[in-house]
Amino acid sequence: MALRTRLTDRFKIEHPIFSAPMGFIAGGRLAAATSQAGGLGLIGGGYGDAEWLTREFGEVGNARVGCGFITWSLARRPELLDLALARAPAALMLSFGALAPFAQTIKRAGVPLICQAQTLAHAREAVAAGADVIVAQGGEAGGHGGTRATLTLTPEIVDYLAGAAPDTLLLAAGGIADGRGLAAALMLGADGVLIGSRLMASAEALTPPGFLDAILAADGDATVKTKVIDVVRSYDWPSGISGRALNTRFVAEWQGRENALAEPATRAAEAERYWRAFRAGEAEGTGVFMGEAVGLIHDAPPAARVIARIVGDAEHLLSNAGGFVAAPI
Ligand SMILES: Cc1cc2nc3c(=O)[nH]c(=O)nc-3n(C[C@H](O)[C@H](O)[C@H](O)COP(=O)(O)O)c2cc1C
Repeated sequence: MALRTRLTDRFKIEHPIFSAPMGFIAGGRLAAATSQAGGLGLIGGGYGDAEWLTREFGEVGNARVGCGFITWSLARRPELLDLALARAPAALMLSFGALAPFAQTIKRAGVPLICQAQTLAHAREAVAAGADVIVAQGGEAGGHGGTRATLTLTPEIVDYLAGAAPDTLLLAAGGIADGRGLAAALMLGADGVLIGSRLMASAEALTPPGFLDAILAADGDATVKTKVIDVVRSYDWPSGISGRALNTRFVAEWQGRENALAEPATRAAEAERYWRAFRAGEAEGTGVFMGEAVGLIHDAPPAARVIARIVGDAEHLLSNAGGFVAAPI
Protein backbone atom coordinates (compact mmCIF):
# COMPACT_ATOMS: atom_id res chain seq x y z
CA MET A 1 0.00 0.00 0.00
CA ALA A 2 1.33 3.45 -0.90
CA LEU A 3 0.05 6.63 0.69
CA ARG A 4 -1.01 8.33 -2.53
CA THR A 5 -2.76 11.66 -2.00
CA ARG A 6 -3.47 14.82 -3.97
CA LEU A 7 -0.15 16.10 -2.58
CA THR A 8 1.93 13.21 -3.92
CA ASP A 9 0.19 13.57 -7.29
CA ARG A 10 0.55 17.36 -7.49
CA PHE A 11 4.23 17.45 -6.44
CA LYS A 12 5.15 14.12 -8.07
CA ILE A 13 6.59 12.75 -4.83
CA GLU A 14 6.36 9.31 -3.30
CA HIS A 15 5.28 10.15 0.26
CA PRO A 16 2.94 12.91 1.57
CA ILE A 17 5.64 14.45 3.77
CA PHE A 18 7.34 17.85 3.61
CA SER A 19 10.20 18.71 5.96
CA ALA A 20 9.72 22.04 7.76
CA PRO A 21 11.84 25.10 6.90
CA MET A 22 13.39 25.31 10.37
CA GLY A 23 15.59 28.40 10.71
CA PHE A 24 19.24 27.58 11.62
CA ILE A 25 18.41 23.83 11.54
CA ALA A 26 17.04 22.83 8.13
CA GLY A 27 19.90 23.39 5.73
CA GLY A 28 20.45 22.01 2.24
CA ARG A 29 21.46 18.54 3.42
CA LEU A 30 18.24 17.91 5.36
CA ALA A 31 16.09 19.32 2.58
CA ALA A 32 17.89 17.19 -0.03
CA ALA A 33 17.74 14.05 2.15
CA THR A 34 13.98 14.52 2.60
CA SER A 35 13.43 14.89 -1.14
CA GLN A 36 15.68 11.93 -1.91
CA ALA A 37 13.68 9.86 0.60
CA GLY A 38 10.49 10.51 -1.36
CA GLY A 39 9.13 13.63 0.37
CA LEU A 40 9.85 17.29 -0.33
CA GLY A 41 12.47 19.14 1.68
CA LEU A 42 12.32 22.85 2.52
CA ILE A 43 15.40 24.88 3.46
CA GLY A 44 14.81 27.11 6.49
CA GLY A 45 15.41 30.64 5.22
CA GLY A 46 14.55 31.87 8.74
CA TYR A 47 15.21 35.53 9.45
CA GLY A 48 17.19 35.83 6.23
CA ASP A 49 20.93 35.66 5.64
CA ALA A 50 22.07 35.74 2.00
CA GLU A 51 25.40 34.04 2.67
CA TRP A 52 23.81 31.19 4.66
CA LEU A 53 21.06 30.70 2.10
CA THR A 54 23.50 30.63 -0.83
CA ARG A 55 25.68 28.08 0.96
CA GLU A 56 22.73 25.84 1.88
CA PHE A 57 21.25 25.89 -1.64
CA GLY A 58 24.74 24.86 -2.73
CA GLU A 59 24.49 21.77 -0.47
CA VAL A 60 21.46 20.25 -2.21
CA GLY A 61 23.25 18.85 -5.27
CA ASN A 62 20.65 18.02 -7.90
CA ALA A 63 17.82 17.30 -5.42
CA ARG A 64 14.57 19.20 -5.93
CA VAL A 65 13.92 21.30 -2.82
CA GLY A 66 11.97 24.34 -1.70
CA CYS A 67 12.57 27.05 0.88
CA GLY A 68 10.61 28.85 3.58
CA PHE A 69 10.78 32.39 4.94
CA ILE A 70 9.56 34.20 8.04
CA THR A 71 7.45 36.73 6.19
CA TRP A 72 7.79 39.78 8.46
CA SER A 73 11.56 39.36 8.40
CA LEU A 74 11.62 38.86 4.62
CA ALA A 75 9.90 42.26 4.34
CA ARG A 76 13.16 43.75 5.67
CA ARG A 77 15.32 41.81 3.19
CA PRO A 78 13.04 41.32 0.15
CA GLU A 79 16.02 40.62 -2.13
CA LEU A 80 16.31 37.16 -0.53
CA LEU A 81 13.15 36.09 -2.34
CA ASP A 82 14.93 36.70 -5.68
CA LEU A 83 17.91 34.70 -4.44
CA ALA A 84 15.60 31.74 -3.69
CA LEU A 85 13.61 32.13 -6.93
CA ALA A 86 16.86 32.05 -8.92
CA ARG A 87 17.41 28.48 -7.60
CA ALA A 88 14.17 27.27 -9.27
CA PRO A 89 12.68 26.04 -5.98
CA ALA A 90 10.06 23.26 -5.96
CA ALA A 91 7.94 25.46 -3.66
CA LEU A 92 8.26 28.55 -1.46
CA MET A 93 6.66 28.83 1.95
CA LEU A 94 5.63 32.02 3.76
CA SER A 95 4.90 32.01 7.49
CA PHE A 96 4.03 34.70 10.00
CA GLY A 97 3.10 38.05 8.51
CA ALA A 98 1.44 39.87 5.62
CA LEU A 99 1.58 37.73 2.48
CA ALA A 100 1.57 40.58 -0.07
CA PRO A 101 3.59 41.38 -2.12
CA PHE A 102 5.66 38.18 -1.81
CA ALA A 103 2.76 35.87 -2.63
CA GLN A 104 2.19 37.58 -5.98
CA THR A 105 5.90 37.47 -6.86
CA ILE A 106 6.05 33.75 -6.10
CA LYS A 107 2.87 33.02 -8.06
CA ARG A 108 4.06 35.11 -11.04
CA ALA A 109 7.26 33.04 -11.10
CA GLY A 110 5.13 29.91 -11.44
CA VAL A 111 6.44 28.48 -8.15
CA PRO A 112 3.94 26.69 -5.86
CA LEU A 113 3.07 28.92 -2.89
CA ILE A 114 2.77 27.38 0.59
CA CYS A 115 1.33 29.51 3.42
CA GLN A 116 1.49 28.43 7.05
CA ALA A 117 -1.68 29.26 9.02
CA GLN A 118 -2.23 29.24 12.77
CA THR A 119 -5.91 30.21 12.66
CA LEU A 120 -8.87 29.98 10.31
CA ALA A 121 -8.45 33.72 9.62
CA HIS A 122 -4.91 33.01 8.39
CA ALA A 123 -6.27 30.26 6.13
CA ARG A 124 -8.73 32.75 4.60
CA GLU A 125 -5.86 35.20 3.97
CA ALA A 126 -3.83 32.41 2.37
CA VAL A 127 -6.68 31.52 0.00
CA ALA A 128 -7.09 35.20 -0.92
CA ALA A 129 -3.34 35.33 -1.69
CA GLY A 130 -3.64 32.33 -4.02
CA ALA A 131 -1.92 29.70 -1.86
CA ASP A 132 -1.47 26.34 -3.57
CA VAL A 133 -0.86 24.64 -0.22
CA ILE A 134 -1.86 25.71 3.29
CA VAL A 135 -0.15 24.33 6.38
CA ALA A 136 -2.49 24.07 9.38
CA GLN A 137 0.01 24.56 12.20
CA GLY A 138 -1.17 23.58 15.67
CA GLY A 139 0.33 25.00 18.85
CA GLU A 140 2.02 21.68 19.66
CA ALA A 141 4.56 22.59 16.96
CA GLY A 142 8.16 23.39 17.69
CA GLY A 143 9.28 26.92 16.93
CA HIS A 144 6.90 29.82 16.52
CA GLY A 145 3.17 29.35 16.26
CA GLY A 146 -0.21 30.07 17.72
CA THR A 147 -2.36 28.31 20.27
CA ARG A 148 -4.91 26.31 18.24
CA ALA A 149 -4.48 22.51 18.40
CA THR A 150 -3.61 20.47 15.30
CA LEU A 151 -6.48 18.07 16.05
CA THR A 152 -9.16 20.75 15.63
CA LEU A 153 -7.47 23.29 13.35
CA THR A 154 -6.75 20.74 10.60
CA PRO A 155 -10.31 19.45 10.00
CA GLU A 156 -11.75 22.94 10.40
CA ILE A 157 -9.52 24.23 7.59
CA VAL A 158 -10.26 21.07 5.56
CA ASP A 159 -13.98 21.91 5.78
CA TYR A 160 -13.38 25.55 4.95
CA LEU A 161 -11.26 24.67 1.89
CA ALA A 162 -13.84 22.15 0.63
CA GLY A 163 -16.23 25.06 0.11
CA ALA A 164 -13.96 28.03 -0.54
CA ALA A 165 -10.98 26.63 -2.46
CA PRO A 166 -11.30 22.91 -3.23
CA ASP A 167 -8.06 22.84 -5.27
CA THR A 168 -5.96 24.19 -2.39
CA LEU A 169 -4.09 21.39 -0.62
CA LEU A 170 -3.70 21.15 3.14
CA LEU A 171 -0.81 19.87 5.23
CA ALA A 172 -1.14 19.27 8.97
CA ALA A 173 1.75 20.34 11.19
CA GLY A 174 2.45 20.27 14.89
CA GLY A 175 3.05 17.15 16.94
CA ILE A 176 3.48 14.75 14.01
CA ALA A 177 6.49 12.54 14.63
CA ASP A 178 5.51 8.95 13.88
CA GLY A 179 3.19 6.77 11.80
CA ARG A 180 0.31 7.38 14.18
CA GLY A 181 0.57 11.13 13.59
CA LEU A 182 0.71 10.79 9.80
CA ALA A 183 -2.21 8.33 9.74
CA ALA A 184 -4.25 10.60 12.03
CA ALA A 185 -3.54 13.68 9.87
CA LEU A 186 -4.72 11.86 6.74
CA MET A 187 -7.86 10.72 8.59
CA LEU A 188 -8.51 14.36 9.54
CA GLY A 189 -8.63 15.14 5.84
CA ALA A 190 -5.13 16.56 5.32
CA ASP A 191 -3.37 15.84 2.02
CA GLY A 192 -0.08 15.34 3.88
CA VAL A 193 2.04 16.58 6.75
CA LEU A 194 4.86 19.04 7.42
CA ILE A 195 7.33 17.69 9.96
CA GLY A 196 9.81 19.76 11.96
CA SER A 197 10.79 18.54 15.42
CA ARG A 198 11.15 14.86 14.46
CA LEU A 199 13.57 15.76 11.64
CA MET A 200 15.51 18.17 13.86
CA ALA A 201 16.75 14.92 15.41
CA SER A 202 18.20 13.47 12.21
CA ALA A 203 21.71 13.00 10.90
CA GLU A 204 21.41 15.74 8.26
CA ALA A 205 19.93 18.50 10.44
CA LEU A 206 22.26 21.30 11.58
CA THR A 207 21.31 20.61 15.21
CA PRO A 208 24.31 21.07 17.54
CA PRO A 209 25.21 17.82 19.38
CA GLY A 210 24.44 19.44 22.77
CA PHE A 211 20.92 20.33 21.61
CA LEU A 212 20.46 16.79 20.34
CA ASP A 213 21.39 15.32 23.73
CA ALA A 214 18.81 17.60 25.40
CA ILE A 215 16.15 16.60 22.85
CA LEU A 216 16.74 12.88 23.31
CA ALA A 217 16.62 13.26 27.10
CA ALA A 218 13.37 15.29 27.18
CA ASP A 219 9.77 14.13 27.30
CA GLY A 220 6.74 16.01 25.99
CA ASP A 221 6.22 17.84 29.30
CA ALA A 222 9.55 19.57 28.83
CA THR A 223 8.44 22.29 26.37
CA VAL A 224 6.86 25.69 27.04
CA LYS A 225 5.37 28.48 24.98
CA THR A 226 7.66 31.42 25.54
CA LYS A 227 8.62 34.91 24.38
CA VAL A 228 11.86 34.92 26.38
CA ILE A 229 13.98 33.75 23.42
CA ASP A 230 12.61 36.51 21.16
CA VAL A 231 13.11 39.19 23.82
CA VAL A 232 16.76 38.29 24.38
CA ARG A 233 17.42 38.19 20.62
CA SER A 234 15.52 41.49 20.08
CA TYR A 235 13.25 39.88 17.49
CA ASP A 236 9.97 41.72 17.14
CA TRP A 237 7.38 39.00 16.47
CA PRO A 238 3.73 39.79 15.59
CA SER A 239 1.27 39.55 18.50
CA GLY A 240 -0.45 36.21 18.99
CA ILE A 241 2.67 34.28 18.02
CA SER A 242 5.13 32.82 20.51
CA GLY A 243 7.76 30.11 20.38
CA ARG A 244 7.57 26.57 21.72
CA ALA A 245 10.94 25.52 23.11
CA LEU A 246 12.57 23.29 25.68
CA ASN A 247 12.19 24.74 29.16
CA THR A 248 15.93 25.16 29.55
CA ARG A 249 17.57 26.86 32.54
CA PHE A 250 17.80 30.11 30.55
CA VAL A 251 14.13 30.08 29.53
CA ALA A 252 12.92 29.14 33.03
CA GLU A 253 15.01 31.92 34.57
CA TRP A 254 13.23 34.64 32.56
CA GLN A 255 9.78 33.17 31.89
CA GLY A 256 7.23 35.66 33.30
CA ARG A 257 9.98 38.27 33.74
CA GLU A 258 10.22 39.33 30.09
CA ASN A 259 9.97 43.05 30.98
CA ALA A 260 13.02 42.80 33.24
CA LEU A 261 14.90 40.98 30.47
CA ALA A 262 13.95 43.70 27.98
CA GLU A 263 15.65 46.36 30.10
CA PRO A 264 18.50 47.46 27.73
CA ALA A 265 21.53 46.76 29.93
CA THR A 266 20.14 43.42 31.10
CA ARG A 267 19.22 42.41 27.58
CA ALA A 268 22.68 43.25 26.24
CA ALA A 269 24.41 41.20 28.92
CA GLU A 270 22.00 38.27 28.63
CA ALA A 271 22.18 38.29 24.83
CA GLU A 272 25.93 37.88 24.98
CA ARG A 273 25.55 34.86 27.32
CA TYR A 274 22.69 33.49 25.22
CA TRP A 275 24.58 33.57 21.92
CA ARG A 276 27.77 32.22 23.49
CA ALA A 277 25.86 29.20 24.80
CA PHE A 278 23.99 28.89 21.48
CA ARG A 279 27.21 28.78 19.45
CA ALA A 280 28.70 26.26 21.88
CA GLY A 281 25.57 24.10 21.66
CA GLU A 282 24.98 24.38 25.41
CA ALA A 283 21.24 23.77 25.55
CA GLU A 284 20.64 24.79 29.17
CA GLY A 285 22.18 28.24 28.73
CA THR A 286 20.24 29.17 25.60
CA GLY A 287 16.97 28.58 23.68
CA VAL A 288 16.18 25.31 21.85
CA PHE A 289 13.00 25.49 19.78
CA MET A 290 11.24 22.14 19.94
CA GLY A 291 7.68 20.84 19.88
CA GLU A 292 5.67 18.58 22.16
CA ALA A 293 6.62 15.75 19.81
CA VAL A 294 9.96 15.68 21.63
CA GLY A 295 8.43 12.99 23.86
CA LEU A 296 8.18 10.73 20.80
CA ILE A 297 11.79 11.21 19.68
CA HIS A 298 14.33 8.67 20.90
CA ASP A 299 17.03 8.62 18.22
CA ALA A 300 18.59 10.68 15.44
CA PRO A 301 19.05 8.45 12.38
CA PRO A 302 19.35 9.67 8.77
CA ALA A 303 16.20 11.49 7.60
CA ALA A 304 15.51 8.70 5.09
CA ARG A 305 15.16 6.22 7.96
CA VAL A 306 12.85 8.56 9.90
CA ILE A 307 10.64 9.01 6.84
CA ALA A 308 10.58 5.31 5.92
CA ARG A 309 9.56 4.43 9.48
CA ILE A 310 6.78 7.03 9.62
CA VAL A 311 5.39 6.00 6.23
CA GLY A 312 5.66 2.26 6.92
CA ASP A 313 3.89 2.57 10.27
CA ALA A 314 1.15 4.81 8.85
CA GLU A 315 0.55 2.40 5.95
CA HIS A 316 0.28 -0.46 8.41
CA LEU A 317 -2.12 1.43 10.68
CA LEU A 318 -4.33 2.61 7.85
CA SER A 319 -4.49 -0.79 6.17
CA ASN A 320 -5.59 -2.29 9.50
CA ALA A 321 -7.89 0.59 10.45
CA GLY A 322 -10.94 -1.60 9.92
CA GLY A 323 -9.84 -3.53 12.99
CA PHE A 324 -10.76 -0.57 15.14
CA VAL A 325 -14.40 -0.47 14.06
CA ALA A 326 -16.55 -1.67 16.95
CA ALA A 327 -18.42 -4.88 16.25
CA PRO A 328 -22.23 -4.56 16.43
CA ILE A 329 -23.58 -5.76 19.78
C1 LIG B 1 13.84 24.36 15.53
C2 LIG B 1 12.64 24.84 14.74
C3 LIG B 1 12.77 25.97 13.97
C4 LIG B 1 11.69 26.43 13.21
N1 LIG B 1 11.85 27.52 12.40
C5 LIG B 1 10.85 27.89 11.56
C6 LIG B 1 11.06 28.94 10.63
O1 LIG B 1 12.12 29.56 10.57
N2 LIG B 1 10.05 29.27 9.79
C7 LIG B 1 8.84 28.58 9.83
O2 LIG B 1 7.96 28.86 9.04
N3 LIG B 1 8.61 27.59 10.72
C8 LIG B 1 9.60 27.23 11.58
N4 LIG B 1 9.38 26.21 12.47
C9 LIG B 1 8.03 25.60 12.55
C10 LIG B 1 7.84 24.55 11.46
O3 LIG B 1 7.64 25.18 10.21
C11 LIG B 1 6.64 23.62 11.72
O4 LIG B 1 5.45 24.35 11.80
C12 LIG B 1 6.76 22.78 12.97
O5 LIG B 1 8.05 22.28 13.12
C13 LIG B 1 5.76 21.64 12.91
O6 LIG B 1 5.57 21.04 14.17
P1 LIG B 1 6.53 19.90 14.77
O7 LIG B 1 7.75 20.62 15.20
O8 LIG B 1 5.74 19.33 15.88
O9 LIG B 1 6.79 18.91 13.66
C14 LIG B 1 10.44 25.73 13.25
C15 LIG B 1 10.33 24.59 14.04
C16 LIG B 1 11.41 24.13 14.78
C17 LIG B 1 11.27 22.87 15.59
